[in-house]
Amino acid sequence: MNEIIRGDVQNVQAGTSLDPQDWSELRTLAHRMLDDAIDSIAKVRERPVWQPAPDSIRARFKADVPREATDLGDVYGEFSDSIAPYATGNVHPGFMGWVHGGGTAVGMLAEMLAAGLNANLGGRDHMPIEVERQIAGWMRELFGFPQGASGIFVTGTSTANLMAVLVARTSALGTLARQHGIGNDGALLTAYTSKAAHGCIAKAMDIAGLGTDALRQIDVDAEHRIDISALRRQIAIDREIGFKPFLVVASAGTVNIGAIDDLAELAAFCREEGIWFHVDGAFGALAILSPELAPLLAGIELADSIALDFHKWGQVPYDAGFLMVRDGEKHRQAFAQPAAYLRREARGLAAGSHWPCDFGPDLSRGFRALKTWFTLKTFGTDRLGAMIARTCALAKYLETRVLAEPRLELLAPVNLNIVCFRYRANDEVNREIVADIQESGVAAPSSTTLDGKSAIRAAIANHRTDVRDIDALVAAVLEFGARRSGDGLIETEAPPLAAP
Ligand SMILES: Cc1ncc(COP(=O)(O)O)c(C=O)c1O
Repeated sequence: MNEIIRGDVQNVQAGTSLDPQDWSELRTLAHRMLDDAIDSIAKVRERPVWQPAPDSIRARFKADVPREATDLGDVYGEFSDSIAPYATGNVHPGFMGWVHGGGTAVGMLAEMLAAGLNANLGGRDHMPIEVERQIAGWMRELFGFPQGASGIFVTGTSTANLMAVLVARTSALGTLARQHGIGNDGALLTAYTSKAAHGCIAKAMDIAGLGTDALRQIDVDAEHRIDISALRRQIAIDREIGFKPFLVVASAGTVNIGAIDDLAELAAFCREEGIWFHVDGAFGALAILSPELAPLLAGIELADSIALDFHKWGQVPYDAGFLMVRDGEKHRQAFAQPAAYLRREARGLAAGSHWPCDFGPDLSRGFRALKTWFTLKTFGTDRLGAMIARTCALAKYLETRVLAEPRLELLAPVNLNIVCFRYRANDEVNREIVADIQESGVAAPSSTTLDGKSAIRAAIANHRTDVRDIDALVAAVLEFGARRSGDGLIETEAPPLAAP
């Protein structure tokens, strides 16, 4: 009887294992995929930065559930024809929208290796977790954090900021709040950030159950940095009427213009007041790698927690966000939860504590650390720092070009790698210019609003971006601006400015 069942199972397995029947066929196709992927990075300049997907292509993605098998070569063909040409475009040096890193071939290869290992970094005793721990150690060293600080990979800074809010909340209310809920004390908690902070901070307050009303958005100065005297006043008022200020979130690189709050003063103030001091360093924190830029971050070493992304200035392929908490035990207390099936043992695969799942909401987690580890080791932090400084030099070059061109207006100081400017025409024209340029495939800036004016925003976050890409952007703004506003197009050559 047992023999019959065993035979049946074996027969079924032959048809259900997902490994290929013919490994050599798979290998040939895999090599082609890898060659194509490398070519697509090496020849990125030959393509438009971005192109919209035609309706006919989108329609293919409305097909029914694929109940039958499709040949891998055909699926790959569909990827090559219908997906790859219509990606975001951030690999391209002309991409300057939002804050997107360009990735590297090294990061791509590491991601492939990570997929091969298929490691689950929620916990257990294996080397991939040691890689993540090593990166946490490197970050502690770079940011001057103590030995007891914890570090964990997450999707991105939105999640890292949310987790920081949760850690600060648990620290303020005590761990019992995790059991009883935030209760009356929680309803009195108030957090502070600037009006220039990223929207994910308000979203984090919402998700954390504290509500966006409990986030005080403080005015900024002319440099777009939080007005610390206004912050002090607001906190004093809130205390006076019975609120419990528990968190200040500083920006180390505001999303709109890259302004860096006075981190040292904020750290000292938060310490005086007994308030958790979190730094949103989504892209700006990695300026720590550049000796010229690092002084701008003075005080970050005093933060209670820092959120940052390796996928932006760090050029690690998406996604690779990171949260670091000075007091690792407080971090753990905000998330750790015992479970019989996750028991830690003295030996065997379940050995070792603590596990990454003790430091965040995720149990199953991929190996984001590997592509980051490859990137940091292969290029070295000095070279990454030099690349980051160069993107700032390119932003300065763009600023100079804008200031030299009477039809353009600079809208904000250039602090790091972001330039906000506009064509001298109304808001609508400026938004049209951005869409025209994106659709032209020449460059991809994004738009924002600054002091009520529509801005063309160029964030130079891609290591491939060069002077010619900046010149191409300026030429495109002038050309589309002239067309949209009905001005005559005046031929402009890039003036002989000192290019970085
Ligand atoms: C200052 C700042 N904070 C937070 C975020 C959100 O980061 P992510 O997109 O990785 O979630 C960004 C994104 O650009 C940002 O610039």
